[in-house]
Amino acid sequence: MVYYAHKHVLGIVGSPRRGGNTEILVDTIIATAVEQGATSEKVILNELEIAPCQACNGCQRTGSCIHEDDMEQLLPLMEKSEVWVLGTPIYWWGPTAQFKLFVDRWYGIDQRIFQGKQVIAAIPMGGGNDHYARHTIGMIKDICNYLGMNYIETVVAPGMNGKGSVRESTSAIESARLAGMRIMDSC
Ligand SMILES: Cc1cc2nc3c(=O)[nH]c(=O)nc-3n(C[C@H](O)[C@H](O)[C@H](O)COP(=O)(O)O)c2cc1C
Repeated sequence: MVYYAHKHVLGIVGSPRRGGNTEILVDTIIATAVEQGATSEKVILNELEIAPCQACNGCQRTGSCIHEDDMEQLLPLMEKSEVWVLGTPIYWWGPTAQFKLFVDRWYGIDQRIFQGKQVIAAIPMGGGNDHYARHTIGMIKDICNYLGMNYIETVVAPGMNGKGSVRESTSAIESARLAGMRIMDSC
């Protein structure tokens, strides 16, 4: 008998567009993992108040950030979730501002929280091939490597301009489903 450890998956949507391509990819990955026995939660960064890092190093001195904002409610979710699905569309070859604000705030978090987290990136883009995502994928991979996280997979969806157009992309939805299955396969 094969025993799979229980996993809690946190979906993080970095697009401001509700019901857009990023959210559809993140939802598909999460729903597939839930079908396999995972539990999940989802946050929409655009609906949270997350202030930009001020590089004051207050976190290094006191152990907590000077900002009292929605990162305080996000942190326990991040901590309890074994898997993070990081979703952002490509904006000017990079992630959205909402996504970057969030990641900059990781600077103030106890690094032990990141150790061993499993990460899947979900990245739609308007451009016709995933070359447009190379800086963003590289950024996420390098951060994961630096913080001791376990980068599992990237789900890319090129050629996605219309809101929700990814629903029509059999290959992108299939790769999101495969990523969701891998969540329960990987330890
Ligand atoms: C401000 C802005 C900048 C964008 N820059 C790029 C880009 O550099 N390369 C690209 O391929 N697509 C770019 N796009 C297109 C989005 O990545 C694409 O529409 C994506 O599917 C949006 O995802 P969403 O539906 O989750 O918001 C841009 C869109 C916006 C609004």
